[in-house]
Amino acid sequence: MSNYHIKHLEEYYQVYRKSVREPENFWGEVAEEHFLWRKKWDNVLSWDFEKPEIKWFEGAQLNITENCIDRHLLARGEKTAIIFEPNNPEEEAQHITYRQLHERVCQLANVLKDQGVKKGDRVSIYLPMIPELSIALLACARIGAIHSVVFAGFSSTALATRINDSDCKLLITSDGSYRGSKSIDLKGIVDESLEDCPGVKTVLVVKRTNAKINMKEGRDQWLQPLLENAYLDCVPEIMNAEDPLFILYTSGSTGKPKGMVHTTAGYLVYTAYTFKNVFQYTENDVYWCTADIGWVTGHSYIVYGPLANGATTLMFEGVPSYPDFGRFWEIVEKHKVNQFYTAPTAIRALAKQNIAFAENHDLSSLKVLGSVGEPINEEAWHWYNDIIGKKNSPIVDTWWQTETGGIMITPIPYVTPTKPTYATLPFIGVQPALMDEQGKELKGNQVEGRLCIKFPWPGMARTIWGDHARYKDTYFSAFPNKYFSGDGALRDEVGYYRITGRVDDVIIVSGHNLGTAPIEDAINEHPAVAESAIVGFPHDIKGNALYGYVILKETGESRNHDNLRNEINQIITEHIGPIAKLDKIQFTSGLPKTRSGKIMRRILRKIASRDMNNLGDTSTLLNPEVVEEIKDNVL
Ligand code: WTA
Repeated sequence: MSNYHIKHLEEYYQVYRKSVREPENFWGEVAEEHFLWRKKWDNVLSWDFEKPEIKWFEGAQLNITENCIDRHLLARGEKTAIIFEPNNPEEEAQHITYRQLHERVCQLANVLKDQGVKKGDRVSIYLPMIPELSIALLACARIGAIHSVVFAGFSSTALATRINDSDCKLLITSDGSYRGSKSIDLKGIVDESLEDCPGVKTVLVVKRTNAKINMKEGRDQWLQPLLENAYLDCVPEIMNAEDPLFILYTSGSTGKPKGMVHTTAGYLVYTAYTFKNVFQYTENDVYWCTADIGWVTGHSYIVYGPLANGATTLMFEGVPSYPDFGRFWEIVEKHKVNQFYTAPTAIRALAKQNIAFAENHDLSSLKVLGSVGEPINEEAWHWYNDIIGKKNSPIVDTWWQTETGGIMITPIPYVTPTKPTYATLPFIGVQPALMDEQGKELKGNQVEGRLCIKFPWPGMARTIWGDHARYKDTYFSAFPNKYFSGDGALRDEVGYYRITGRVDDVIIVSGHNLGTAPIEDAINEHPAVAESAIVGFPHDIKGNALYGYVILKETGESRNHDNLRNEINQIITEHIGPIAKLDKIQFTSGLPKTRSGKIMRRILRKIASRDMNNLGDTSTLLNPEVVEEIKDNVL
């Protein structure tokens, strides 16, 4: 069916129109022709954004791993499914074929079953970027367990919060992880976490660094010996279309992370269909997404989307700067990567290095360059386009979110003419709307507003784990009958979208979403701190960096400020992780507040960005005098 692979702009418009006019027929046809169903659906879609309740392919039965692995075995059994490129370039890369992947997933699935994991149970995964991570996701899906991956850069407290929120009984981790020249004691972090997680009865440990670790009797077991004794085949659990596939946490505007729940059939259809089109993947291409599987980009576009298409997907364990800043380009050359998908923060960091790092490598295999996670600025776009793409690999600037499951606004390469800093057009089936602050939809072009989606798409998250009211409140209350993304966007004169950034209390630092509330909560734990407020300010490489305003208690006022700054960042590292550390900390006697006691972050943001001239009317504040003090002492 040509619908599955869009090849020119006219076809895009044609298919887009169909997907909007007859969404059920459209998605029904995609689902019908490209996936393996144990039972077909009774109903393509039922939805209600009031409740909210969204169901795709209701009545259908399937297993996502049959779609990602088993059905490829006949034609692609010996094809490489996963290329693993280790942190250390001296260590040999691994090529895992679809047949081997099938065996390894089945073995781990059987181990999980032996450990008592059943359909619907939650399994926490805290692993570095090694093949066992992809295999662990798929092994859970094989037996109908719900995986909850926690990024292995999160701290022990953050891990514990997520384990407890989803009530996981089993955790898969490793002895340690490599990151450039460092190795990290992952198991030590896990041990600390589990002191607060009485529900976890079993920990399966992958051997990676051979570090000496503590194995707790009765709880911890090495995974390898269990795998060696496990059966090589495992009958897939038959799942209903709307059975949960995974939980993945994202930051919100309150302290508690939101466990976004994705379900089986819609997520499969959407990630597979977007992958095929956004990367124009063709058989025998090598595709590489540099994200960590701890984030949604890795779930959808390292694991599920590529494997559902029988693709070869590369996993890289290391970092772009090790052993030097040429590492990404060396990998592209070594594995002849055709599609490369990364984040603007990485592009900016690499663009700052000597150009020889890029020019010393043969990048001629590249056909498509992707960007995700934050707005890409003009300079970075051009560097990516000119130096890496040699002006003949289109850039797909893909806008989407953990909540959307898959790409929502994006060019289709070789189809949609690109424009720097624009994510361009809605993907097939996606119906965006820009809203003004009064809740009116802004029609026509050359408008700017809050980015909403008016109609369901198969990949959307269905709820927040254990808190449906928060799901409704966060995404479906600001604008009735619409999904609200939390982002602002503009639509230019030809209908292209440009994402302007978050309009809520989430700050994107190096492509990672950080809520201000959890960071403030962490800082406020410091005994000398009375109150704090965090805002973002522009940063060359990270996109945004964090600026903290901190009020000290009287007892803390005489303390050395640099020591306090270090201690505050230490607390943040313990509670969240090093990614949330503050670049600047200003001590102040007060924070600008409205008469109802709300902190005026807009003013703080402007001061931190040194945009002092138009702070707006400060006279209605409860404490206007504090604004002057803050301005005078800005860092
Ligand atoms: C931001 C990552 C501009 C946006 C897939 C969104 C982007 C948040 C882009 C979601 C882009 C993502 N241009 N901004 N191409 N892609 N964002 O949940 O603010 O980690 O709301 O999902 O990243 O981040 P998340």
